[in-house]
Amino acid sequence: MPKFLTQAWNCKDPRSKALDPSTSSSAAEAVSFFQAWLRNPLRIAAIAPSGSALAGLITAEISAETGPVIELGPGTGSFTRALISRGVLQSELALIEFEPRLATSLRLRYPRATVLQMDASRLSSIKLFDQRPAGAVVSGLPLLSMAPRQTTKILAASFSKMQPGGAFYQFTYGFRCPVPTKVLNRLNLKAERIGWVFSNLPPAAVYRLSRPTTDSALGAS
Ligand SMILES: C[S@@+](CC[C@H](N)C(=O)[O-])C[C@H]1O[C@@H](n2cnc3c(N)ncnc32)[C@H](O)[C@@H]1O
Repeated sequence: MPKFLTQAWNCKDPRSKALDPSTSSSAAEAVSFFQAWLRNPLRIAAIAPSGSALAGLITAEISAETGPVIELGPGTGSFTRALISRGVLQSELALIEFEPRLATSLRLRYPRATVLQMDASRLSSIKLFDQRPAGAVVSGLPLLSMAPRQTTKILAASFSKMQPGGAFYQFTYGFRCPVPTKVLNRLNLKAERIGWVFSNLPPAAVYRLSRPTTDSALGAS
């Protein structure tokens, strides 16, 4: 059994502890996450939640001033917790999680956030934040295992829900941006790696995807 789970398995009832909103035990979260992986390894795509260093990097450019934030694939909430600690109000968060039990757990833990149990590919079909545009999207989605068409749908919907200048933050365990260049070009997006977290298991990189604003496009010409 992976070492990070041994302590967690000592809990008397790990599942009920994971669903208890009063606890943010990382051991309980690890168990909940691992159980989700056992149910659907391809969709979860990692056996443990992201660590705090990765959560810190992927949320580093976000603050209370950013405006509403959409989080795709929050899992057990590693990035959600980091967003809240940066000053983002729960009521300014929309958490889009496909796995029903993880969504239920997020609802209990973040009762003032909008938690939607759904496929992020359907993002274009929903209204969020009373139609106010988001300032950022933070994604834990396993884009590398998604078809380019699905990635395109998710990115197009994300940018349609963001104000100009908004950014989409994505992490990856790979050495390159997980969004194919042809998808970036089709959507007029640029991708910049903002850093690596070597202490994460496995090591991960974070990319910022953004769309040149009219002003910067004019300035560049
Ligand atoms: C690699 S885990 C990341 C979880 C968390 N953000 C973290 O870093 O610890 C991927 C998460 O995305 C969710 N997910 C995968 N495909 C999804 C989809 N199409 N729509 C919504 N959520 C999805 C999974 O259920 C899982 O919670």
